[in-house]
Amino acid sequence: MQSDNSDSPRTSVLFVCLGNICRSPLAEGIFHHLVDEAGLTDRFEIDSAGTGAWHVGERPDARAAMVASQHGVDLPSRARQITDDDLKRFDYVVVMDRENLRNVQRMSDTLGDEAVAEVVLLRAFDPEGSDGDEVPDPYYGGASGFENVYEMVHRSCRDLLDRLRTV
Ligand code: 4NP
Repeated sequence: MQSDNSDSPRTSVLFVCLGNICRSPLAEGIFHHLVDEAGLTDRFEIDSAGTGAWHVGERPDARAAMVASQHGVDLPSRARQITDDDLKRFDYVVVMDRENLRNVQRMSDTLGDEAVAEVVLLRAFDPEGSDGDEVPDPYYGGASGFENVYEMVHRSCRDLLDRLRTV
């Protein structure tokens, strides 16, 4: 295990989906888990949000919490909606699908120079993915959809961390 280097500036990462109860809480929890395992806890600030407001204040969907716990990952988040301030503050906003990308990019364009966040699709980091791939919305499907989402988010977060730990 590597040791923390608390003198380094923290890299901030916000994971974003539509409802902030399925995909982005999973990405937040998995990325946090990988960061902790790598001994880099003090080097990152990690959070998640949704583009929609329907589920604000809710804990993650029970199926997301279940698949996470089966893999030893905790999901501590409460749903919140992304704000302009997030785009002024976070280094990276990592979105799950192209609709999220369009919505966040529109917010960023409206803010102009005030927006500092780099907005990227999570699966751009998936070693098994191709250009423009998305994390599919598992909300209306069954448990197997959540396992599939878990696997692709985990693969992508591993490569995202490899990329960001050297930034
Ligand atoms: P998420 O999934 O964007 O991965 O959190 C969804 C959760 C709720 C809804 C849609 C997607 N919904 O329509 O309420």
